[in-house]
Order: sequence, then structure tokens, then C-alpha cells
Amino acid sequence: MVDEVHAIDALSYEQRTFPPSTEFKANAIVSDQSLYLEGERDFEAYWARHARELISWAQPFTKTLEWDLPYAEWFSDGTLNVSYNCLDRQVLAGRGDKVAFYWEGEPGDSRVITYLQLLDEVQRFANVLKNLGIKKGDRVNIYLPMIPEAAVAMLACARIGAAHSVVFGGFSSQSLSDRINDAEAKLLITADGGWRRGEVFPLKSQADEALKSTTTIEHVVVVKRGNNEISMTPGRDVWYHEAMADADAVCDAEPMEAEHLLFLLYTSGTTGKPKGIMHTTAGYLTHVTTTFKYAFDHKPDTDIFWCTADVGWVTGHSYIVYGPLANGATQIMYEGVPNFPANDRIWQIIEKYKATIFYTAPTAIRTYMKWGAQELAKHDLSSLRLIGTVGEPINPEAWIWYNENVGGSRCPIIDTWWQTETGGMMITPLPGVTVTKPGSATFPLPGIGAELVDEQGNRVLSGGGYLTLTTPWPGMLRGIWGDQKRYRETYWSRFPGRYFAGDGAKLDSDGYLWLLGRVDDVMNVSGHRISTTEVESALVSHPSVAEAAVVGANDAMTGQAIIAYVTLRSGLEVDEKVLREHVAKEIGPIAKPKMIFFTPDLPKTRSGKIMRRLLRDVAEGRNIGDTTTLADASVVSELQRRASETPTED
Ligand code: PRX
Repeated sequence: MVDEVHAIDALSYEQRTFPPSTEFKANAIVSDQSLYLEGERDFEAYWARHARELISWAQPFTKTLEWDLPYAEWFSDGTLNVSYNCLDRQVLAGRGDKVAFYWEGEPGDSRVITYLQLLDEVQRFANVLKNLGIKKGDRVNIYLPMIPEAAVAMLACARIGAAHSVVFGGFSSQSLSDRINDAEAKLLITADGGWRRGEVFPLKSQADEALKSTTTIEHVVVVKRGNNEISMTPGRDVWYHEAMADADAVCDAEPMEAEHLLFLLYTSGTTGKPKGIMHTTAGYLTHVTTTFKYAFDHKPDTDIFWCTADVGWVTGHSYIVYGPLANGATQIMYEGVPNFPANDRIWQIIEKYKATIFYTAPTAIRTYMKWGAQELAKHDLSSLRLIGTVGEPINPEAWIWYNENVGGSRCPIIDTWWQTETGGMMITPLPGVTVTKPGSATFPLPGIGAELVDEQGNRVLSGGGYLTLTTPWPGMLRGIWGDQKRYRETYWSRFPGRYFAGDGAKLDSDGYLWLLGRVDDVMNVSGHRISTTEVESALVSHPSVAEAAVVGANDAMTGQAIIAYVTLRSGLEVDEKVLREHVAKEIGPIAKPKMIFFTPDLPKTRSGKIMRRLLRDVAEGRNIGDTTTLADASVVSELQRRASETPTED
């Protein structure tokens, strides 16, 4: 008999379950299956209803979806303005004095900005853009720290129909010039500098460097934030505050076609050249507005929402700017790092503003685990009622820690799976409905179709497989800027008729989805396809371990051997042998790491994702080259040094 061959072996099963409390359920916007049933009956009608109920239109749409695979148009004959939806209509609804942002600067300064003030600032800045020659259809680059002007700049672009392309402030001048050139942007909005870990990091000088190798930028608008010395190029560069002082106060929101380009957001591809992911107006806004409301169970009159992402990532676009503002939310925005001036900064901010909803990344949670629960105990976190995660699989033990220490065992956790390409959340619990399991993103949201398939594209009903999306969704990317061939090839060619997300997942016997990370993070050990996520979770389930990264390195005996890099919780120690046995006990001897390296930190990208490719290079003794995209490059040189001192056989 031939064993059944799975695309990815499902090794571990987490059994613990967490239903929403009776109290949470009683107050939840959704507490039964009705939305799921509505979405299943007719996903187009589901999204059309929400587009009508949650969005204001200048010209209502009559067509819901035109689908010519892989090209979708949603609500195509309607017109609307995104900034109108985020600002004007909130003011018209009586929310002018409601706080849009409680902004907290890293050095301890703060600002409170109401919807009326935000609308005023956006109108003025839209006029500044117009005065500098920006028109509907132009592209504008944004390279800013986490300051309110980042949201102002994005909304002002949306107001006049210019597409923004935000580049994370931690990226290099090379990344910035690549993105400016690809988008042929006409204007750059930056700052002198921003605060990070107690110091000002320069942005304007990086921007100046980038502009040496671009030809399309006509003007640079500079926000004063760091007060660091910079040089201004006469005729090209203008100060934000000076231009704003001269700008007209009124700039009416111009209705845009539903499929008008709202923004480009670059995401790195496997082949190096970043892809400009295209998102358009009506479908994107409908998707993020609907998912924000339901996934966060958001109540505009009482909630204080905090998403810790940077606006340079899609999470910041969808769940700091567009989704929350379109729902009239009050938010916290924080400029700096979580350990300035001390390791309890995040908890101090939650206490200060009485945050009710907190949304962060698993990598951050594991860092807080490492710093220890005593940091949280210094603060009153009882205002929180819902907590969420995004960006990576969350290991069950990190989930449990988050639940107990941050959520006080009373807050539902929403583990939200989505991508830059999907625009908004796709797979996540509905907090008043779903019984959660630690580490599972649970089920597709209402109106979303997701299935697992095997190598041949046959549907997989239990065990591991490739995650595909089966029906178009309103927030879906509309293409890759300037390269529609790459769009088809990257997302639509692997499994005909399906969008392939690049992720592996498994389905358990209750139909829960467990995300296993990118399929290139799957190892092949003696013919078993093992996901790095499962081994990492087994390691993190040991009480001494805070964080783990696992890679497969070439091995003459087994094809690939499992190499683990482990960070311990502060003050704790454990023997390598004990950890290897722990993994064997948790998920089986096949998954036992061949070698374990202990390290104070793991190499991560600026967005917090572990750089496994780089760790593989270290494990296989290769030169690793450019590490400028790393948050902390010294981590890798230390690991390399130790790898070269370690014998390769145990
Ligand atoms: O591998 C998945 C992982 O992050 C990828 C998307 O990354 P990006 O486009 O940068 O967007 C991140 C913010 C939405 C996915 O392909 N990912 C994201 N969320 C989860 C996740 N993996 C597991 N569980 C999640 N909740």
C-alpha cells in the first residue's frame, strides 16, 4: 500500500478551545451564523449589501461584480470619494468633535486630533498637492514616520484622485528610489526625521540620496518632526507647515470611479524586484470597512482602537487609515519602538488611553513574552475587550500567553490571516460567534471563499495543503503596476481558476484552518513535508522558550535537516537535548531538530517577519550578502560566527 501523499504533513493538533464569553456574545454586533449564511448564499449580494449600507456614494452602483478571471471590477458604475467616506460624512453625522487620533510621539509628546480637525488638515493639504501640480491619476510617494501627517497625506491624495505609494520610513534610499521609479511618482512627501529608540533617524537626507537616481519627482514636501538639520533644494522642496499656511481651507471631495486607482503598495517578490500591488477605490473601501466593523466588533461610541502597525505596511493602510476612519473610530497612533524609554511602553499607552481593542503582530507578542509578564503587571489593562494578531502564524503558546497576560483571559483573540494582495482580512474568527483554538485563524470571513488543494489542485478536506481563494473579493489586488503578465503568473497560474496565496495551511477535523506560513518555508525531511511553523510552535511550547526560527538545511542523509534558532525567555535556561526531546514528544521524532542554536535575537525584516532564507544561508555556510533590509544586522554576523565554530554533525 502506498501512503497517502500530502502536500504538507500536518503533525500537531492543538485541542484547547475558547468560546466567547456570554457577556461578550451578548454585546457583540454579530453573535450568530446569519452573516456566514448570507455570504454562502450569494457572496456578491453579501458584499453589495455592505457596500450600500456602510459606504456613501456620489452615484450609487447598479453592477456588483464583473469577473473576467483574473480581473475583477466591483461596483464599477458607482462613484464615490474615499476621503469623503472617512472624514466628511463622519462630521456630517455629528462626529466632528470625536477624536480620530490620540497620537503619541516616542519622546512623550502627544496630540489629539478630532474628525473636524483631520478634515480641515486634509482639505488644506489636498490644496497644497494641487498647487504643486498634482492631478487625478498622478502617483505620490510618501516616506514618513508614524505621525498624523502620514494619514493626512494619504487621505489628501484620495481626495483628489492621486494614487499614493507609501514607503516604510525604515527602508533605505535605494528601496525608495526603486519604488519612485517604478511608479513614476511626481511628488514625494517626507519629513526631516522621526524618532526611534530615543534618537532622530534621518529621512530627508535618505530621500535626497534616493532622488539622485530618479527623474520624475518635481517637488518634495517636508514635514518638520525631528528638527534635525537638513538641506532644502530651492524650487523643488517645500516645508509642509509653510505650504499649509498658504493653502485654501476648502477642497471638496471629488467623486471617483469605483475602479479608480487608490494606491500602490510595494511588496517584495521572490525574484527581487518589488511588486507594486494595485488597490482601487470602492471594492477596497467596502472590504476594509466591513471587515473592520465585524472582526473587531467595533462600536464607534465606546471603543478606543489601537493597531500597532506602521502605515508603511498594508495593515497600516487598511486598519489604521481607511477601515477605522470609514467606521468613525477613535484610535491610538504611536510613533516609536515598544521599548522606549522602557519595556513597558506599550502597556503604559494602553492604560493611558484606555484602549479597548489592540491589534499587533505575533513577533511583537513573542518579544513581550521574552521581556516578561512583570512589564504588563505594572499597568491596568482592564479596558481591553478584544485583541488581535496579524502578519504571521501565531504559535499556540504565544496565543495562550497573549490571552492570559494581555487579554486577562476575558478578551476574544482574532488571529487574522490576509496579505498585501488581499487588501483586507480574509480568514479570522468573528469574535462573538467563533469558538477559537490557539494558533488557528479559524474560518474564512463571510463572503470569502478559501480552500486547500494538493499538488495537482485537487481539493483537500483534511490535513495539509496549499491555501487558495476560490471567489473574487472586493479588496483583491487589481494587478501589479506595469506588469500584468507577472500578476497572472504569480497569483493565477499555479492552480487554474484559483488565486494561490503562497501559503500552506491545514484543515482539522472540525474544519478549522491552521496557517503554516509560506510554502517555501516547508522543509523536506526524509520525504516528509514539514512546515517550519509547526516545529517552531513545538519549541515555543516549552516554558523556557520565547521565540524560535526553524529552517531546513541541505543534508546528505535526510534531504534536509531541521536547524532551529531559539531565543529564551529572560532569565531562563534549557539544555539543547531537552528541547529536541520536547519537539519529539510534541509532534514526533521526525521533527526533532538536528541542531539548535541559542541566540539573544532572531534576524527579522523591518516588518517583523523572521528571515528564514537568511538563516538557511547561515546554516548552509553560505555568504549572506546584503542585510540592509534587516531590523538588526548584527544578529546575523553573530550567528554566522557561531555556526562556523560548530561541528556540522551532532
Ligand atoms: O504568509 C502569510 C503571512 O503574511 C503573508 C502576507 O504578508 P504581507 O503581505 O506583508 O501582509 C501582512 C499583513 C496582512 C501571508 O501570505 N500572514 C499574515 N497573517 C497571517 C499570516 N500567516 C499566518 N497567520 C496569519 N494570521
